Order: sequence, then C-alpha cells, then structure tokens
Amino acid sequence: MLPSTNTICILIFSISFVANGKSNDINRPTVGIIRWDAWNLVHGQYDEISFYSHRAMSPEHFHYRLPFFAKVNSDTNVTINGDTQEIMDKEILYASYAGFDYWAFDTYCAFGPNCTTNSPYCAQYYQQTSTRYCPQNPAYGLYRYLSSRYIALINFTFVLLGSSPCGDEFQEYYIELMMHRQFQTVLGGRPLLYLFQFDDQEAQLCGGGWEGSRRVFDSFRQKVINRGLQNPYLVLMDGDIQRCKIRAATIGFDAISSYGLGGGGTVQGSPFSDEVQRSVQWWNAALQSGAKVVIPLSTGWDPRPRYEHPVPWVDQGPEHFLQPTAKELQDFLKTSLELTCTNQNVTEAQTVIVYAWNENSENGAALIPSIGNGTYYISALSDMLPMTC
Ligand SMILES: *[C@@H]1O[C@H](CO)[C@@H](O)[C@H](O)[C@H]1NC(C)=O
Ligand SMILES: *[C@@H]1O[C@H](CO)[C@@H](O)[C@H](O)[C@H]1NC(C)=O
Ligand SMILES: *[C@@H]1O[C@H](CO)[C@@H](O)[C@H](O)[C@H]1NC(C)=O
Ligand SMILES: *[C@@H]1O[C@H](CO)[C@@H](O)[C@H](O)[C@H]1NC(C)=O
Ligand SMILES: *[C@@H]1O[C@H](CO)[C@@H](O)[C@H](O)[C@H]1NC(C)=O
Repeated sequence: MLPSTNTICILIFSISFVANGKSNDINRPTVGIIRWDAWNLVHGQYDEISFYSHRAMSPEHFHYRLPFFAKVNSDTNVTINGDTQEIMDKEILYASYAGFDYWAFDTYCAFGPNCTTNSPYCAQYYQQTSTRYCPQNPAYGLYRYLSSRYIALINFTFVLLGSSPCGDEFQEYYIELMMHRQFQTVLGGRPLLYLFQFDDQEAQLCGGGWEGSRRVFDSFRQKVINRGLQNPYLVLMDGDIQRCKIRAATIGFDAISSYGLGGGGTVQGSPFSDEVQRSVQWWNAALQSGAKVVIPLSTGWDPRPRYEHPVPWVDQGPEHFLQPTAKELQDFLKTSLELTCTNQNVTEAQTVIVYAWNENSENGAALIPSIGNGTYYISALSDMLPMTC
C-alpha cells in the first residue's frame, strides 16, 4: 500500500485538527520519536552506514519494511535515498498526521571518506563505541527538515551520542540550533536534550571521568543560559536503570530514559504482548527508582535483517517480536501516556520518547510509512493522539 491522494486529504484535515486541539489543552504530555537517518546516498554512493543499511534490507523478504521512498528494482536490488526535500516534506506531513510533537534526531559526528576525522571525540566514537560507524552526512534529515516549508508542523531535538557533546565546537553547534523556535522544550521553556552511548570511556575522554564530566556538562548548561535560553533539561539514556540513575546524578542530568528497550524475543517471534509486558516492567521499575523519568516506548524489535547481513557496529541475533496490531500499538502508547499523567512528580517533563521513526533494519514496526505496511501505524496513532491527561 502506498500513500494515496486520499491519504493526503486526511493528512491536511488532521493537521488543522491537531493544531486546533493543541492550543486549548492544559495538561497534555508531548510525544517525541527517534530518527535514525541512515537511508541516504552521498554523491550517488552509500556511505559507511547507508551501505550496511541498504545491504541488510535488500533481500525480498524484508522489502515490506523499507521506507515508502525506497525503489524495488528486483527481488534482490533496491535503491534507498531519503535525502530529498520532497521526501522530507512528506515525512513531516506523515509524522504530524500521526500526532507526534517532535523528532529526536540521532546526532553523530560527520566523517570524511574512509572514516577520517580531526576530532578525538569522533575518532573515539568510531574506534570504540560503534565500530566503523562513520557516516559522511549523518545530518541530512535534520538539514532537510530545517529547510522544509512544513517545519512548523513538528518540533525537534537531539539524541546526542558518545563523547562529542563534550567538545566546545559541538556544543556551539547544538546551541545555535537550540535557539530555533521549533526546538522542543519542557517544563515551561527548558530545551530538552537526550544523551545516549555515554559510557566509562566517553566520561574519561569528556572530563577525565564521571565527576569531571559533570563540570563539562555544567559548563554547557551555563553556555546555554548565557545565550538567553532556559536551563536545558538533560536526559541520560541507558537501559540499566540503576546504572543510569547513578550516572545521571553524577553528571547532573535531570532524568533517565532509554533508547527504546531493545533485545528480547525468540527466534520464531514472540507475541507483541511480551514486548509490552517487558516495557511495563521497565517503566514501573524506573518510576520507582527515585530518579526522574522520561518513559521510552519501543514500537517493535526485529533485527533479523542485520542478523542475515551483519552491520559492523553491533552484533544482533534472529530473536524478535512480532509486529503490533494497530490496537496493540494504541493501547501501548495510551498506557505510557497514562503513566506519564499519573506520576507527574517523577515524569515531570511530561513527555514520552518513542523508538522509532525509521530504524527499519532493527525495529520491525518502524513508524515511517513503509512499502508493505503503508500508513497503517501512523493512522492508528492519529486516531488517539493528541491525548490529554
Ligand atoms: C540495481 O538496479 C539499478 C536500477 O535498475 C541498477 O542501476 C543497478 O546496476 C542494479 N544493481 C545491481 C547490483 O544489479
Ligand atoms: C582506509 O583506512 C584503512 C585503515 O586506516 C587503511 O588501511 C586504508 O588504506 C585506507 N584506504 C584508503 C583508500 O585510504
Ligand atoms: C514547538 O515548541 C514550541 C515551544 O516549546 C511550542 O510553542 C509549539 O507549540 C511546538 N510546536 C509543535 C508543532 O509541537
Ligand atoms: C510522587 O508522588 C507519589 C504520590 O503522590 C508519591 O507516592 C511518591 O513518593 C512521589 N515520588 C517522588 C519521587 O517524589
Ligand atoms: C506488514 O506487511 C507484511 C508484508 O506484506 C505483512 O505480512 C504484515 O502482516 C503487515 N503487518 C501488519 C501489521 O499489517
């Protein structure tokens, strides 16, 4: 199923509905969704990330999971390039129709050909955190978003990755963008930022350890404030709740969360209800941990494309969950929003972060409209979002 003219009419209708709904709602948690932009060509070629993404998704039995803009040339040959304004414009309309408030752009270092970089932070990321993870144009999605005439329909923030957020030049770049009027805020104007893949080695490079890293992030906060913005709301992502809580407290972060809740499932595919159960357990444990929490929600987990054609930066098996039905996805998101509503002293930022928009090779139910499932999931969400407390 491909997006049709009917879909576009529904889109336009819903957008005006969402826009009207927003201004009157007093207590409405926002919903953000993670973007992983690895679906582009650079000068007509796949770069270090999109090469592996493309390879993983090329077998026919995964074509249904390809983003809507992919071209199927034959059973084993697909072309994927989402780096055009026209495609981004459509993605914004789709995400807004679903009811999302903001995209959280995965924010990586950009590398030269053959993984070259002048930055020690980027070199560390590529050598240690995520082997051979060296995209040449990782921000193509962000730039197409910023230049879209539909930009006002959805806000944005970053999932910062690795140690580069400790570098002055990186911080300056983020602050410039944090001043953009579409930058997502929480708690009455505090810019929202996530940090992921920040581990012992990153803390070492950042500030000579966790305590030193706190000074680096405190100084970042001050730089943001000096530019006239409010104190940023910083969220550390790490699936290990206790570890995340301790680390977040040490570096002075405001809340804990997770980049989805990956892993789990069985080779033959576990029912989605198992994934829901797993998440609800994590949510409750996090809510009781004593830390402030941004609830993460995974729409799926199925890295089989990467099991069949491994990517060098992560080793993933064939275990997976079956795709949710529309009803299962709606109920799941509803539960996460209800918990966010009823635990306001813990979920103070009143936001939920969804994984994921376009992790199509890792998540069996990425929400971007796809070749096989069309607008099934975003239509399901548009029926229930926005949801007030
Ligand atoms: C895949 O299809 C495209 C478009 O038809 C073609 O240009 C390209 O050579 C094909 N690639 C392979 C490896 O066959
Ligand atoms: C790419 O980098 C590797 C490892 O540093 C090196 O061995 C290789 O010669 C380089 N290739 C090119 C084309 O520069
Ligand atoms: C974007 O964020 C601003 C400031 O937080 C808010 O006023 C606006 O409603 C948001 N827009 C969307 C589309 O969520
Ligand atoms: C949040 O509020 C609930 C009920 O009002 C209370 O039981 C709980 O201890 C509070 N949690 C925190 C972290 O303040
Ligand atoms: C998504 O598409 C695949 C392939 O056509 C199909 O097997 C699957 O049932 C679809 N999923 C949903 C939730 O409709």
